[in-house]
Amino acid sequence: MVDRTGRHAGRVALITGAARGQGRSHAWRLAEEGADVVAIDVCAPIPGVAYPMATPEELEETAAGVRERGGRVSAHVADVRDAEGLGKAVSAGIEELGGVDAVLANAGIGMASPHVTAAQAFRDQLDVNTVGVWNTVQAAAPVMIAQGRGGAIVVTSSSMGLTGRGGDGSGQMDGYIASKHALVGLVRAWANWLAPHSIRVNSVHPSGVATPMVLNDAVAALFTDPPDGEVPDVGNLLPVGLLEPRDVTAAVAWLCSDEARYVTGIAMPVDAGFVAR
Ligand SMILES: NC(=O)c1ccc[n+]([C@@H]2O[C@H](COP(=O)([O-])OP(=O)(O)OC[C@H]3O[C@@H](n4cnc5c(N)ncnc54)[C@H](O)[C@@H]3O)[C@@H](O)[C@H]2O)c1
Repeated sequence: MVDRTGRHAGRVALITGAARGQGRSHAWRLAEEGADVVAIDVCAPIPGVAYPMATPEELEETAAGVRERGGRVSAHVADVRDAEGLGKAVSAGIEELGGVDAVLANAGIGMASPHVTAAQAFRDQLDVNTVGVWNTVQAAAPVMIAQGRGGAIVVTSSSMGLTGRGGDGSGQMDGYIASKHALVGLVRAWANWLAPHSIRVNSVHPSGVATPMVLNDAVAALFTDPPDGEVPDVGNLLPVGLLEPRDVTAAVAWLCSDEARYVTGIAMPVDAGFVAR
């Protein structure tokens, strides 16, 4: 399993939302392929979100998994909304591991609590899912430029960053859809900004993925289980309900690799055909 000569050997990957779900999957796969990891997560509940965020123990499990795969790890608790705190975590991680070659701006929130106003739900979505990604790239990109060794940034948007299907005028849906569409524009802007430094910037757009963002009581209450043996219809073309984190990780690991060396500014669906439907 440990391959210190892999596609990402000698690189450092900085990952937000790394304590569980897709972020953890990215951390472990990149470590398997040779990377060291700066793992950042808020590790505390976010008021207004209907389900719990990750815990400090989960961040430590992610870190332990990176070490088991032969990688070094620098784990930090920080909120991507807090530019100052995040900046300190990013700087400490980069200093400890000797630079940064890949940035995975993955932290995000889904369903809002029914107890917050529509306006608050809308603001929370934009704050974490868009401003948080902006803060992440603002903290890391200047270091990548100064290093002069190129690199890759992958922003995790959503299939809901490419379509408004399911929009219902609620603060939740407006906020999630707007916050994820905004990332497409930022990726294009950053691809222009960073191309002269050989830093590539792309986004991935998953449809539903089996992580605690959707595997929780609040979301379960919205769906009825399909009859035995049938795939739940969540809007995908292919006969699959939820994707696995590793399906998104495969795209992310490729986008960060030299195999994608001339790929920048793209919005890549990993969505079983959700957006094409
Ligand atoms: N699960 C899905 O169905 C799905 C589909 C499309 C896109 N996405 C996106 O994928 C990304 C990863 O989500 P996931 O599916 O792994 O869900 P998840 O809830 O399991 O993981 C998200 C992680 O981000 C962390 N986080 C949340 N807010 C944070 C903040 N302010 N600062 C730092 N860390 C924070 C959480 O603690 C958690 O560990 C998110 O951007 C999400 O919007 C998820």
